[in-house]
Amino acid sequence: MPVTKRLGSTLACAMLGLAAGCSDGGSSASNPLEIASRDLVPADGQLAGVYNRSCRNCHTIAATGAPLTGDTNVWEARLAKGMDTLVDSVVNGYGGMPPFGMCMDCDAQQFEDLIAFMAEGR
Ligand code: HEC
Repeated sequence: MPVTKRLGSTLACAMLGLAAGCSDGGSSASNPLEIASRDLVPADGQLAGVYNRSCRNCHTIAATGAPLTGDTNVWEARLAKGMDTLVDSVVNGYGGMPPFGMCMDCDAQQFEDLIAFMAEGR
């Protein structure tokens, strides 16, 4: 699937031609995992609301350095730390992530659900 997506975007670039430009970086995502991450939303409506106004702002943008939603390989290494450690990372802030991941009113259970969703992409 990622291969088809990559081919598709390469084709689109070729067709759009020089005017639009197809360089990496900037806001135009060329990373298939990044493009895929933008379509993923938690099935639970309330969790989706929280996700959309907080985690999504970074975890669908590779340039932030955040592990992308649905990038299961990258998340595997994070999950290996254990869920409690990951929840602590969110609560306390971690690297480029501010404390509470920008969700000040989230509780630990919500963080856990959000992490599980991002790690699996569903
Ligand atoms: C302002 C950007 C930003 C927001 C908003 C954000 N994150 Fe992050 N997150 C990051 C970055 C950047 C990293 C990678 C930090 C690193 O590895 O140095 C990260 C890493 C993580 C990690 C891995 C921590 C670890 O110990 O490896 C988890 C879990 C996580 N985020 C969960 C969340 C959740 C849940 C939300 C929403 C409530 C959220 N993030 C919102 C930027 C953000």
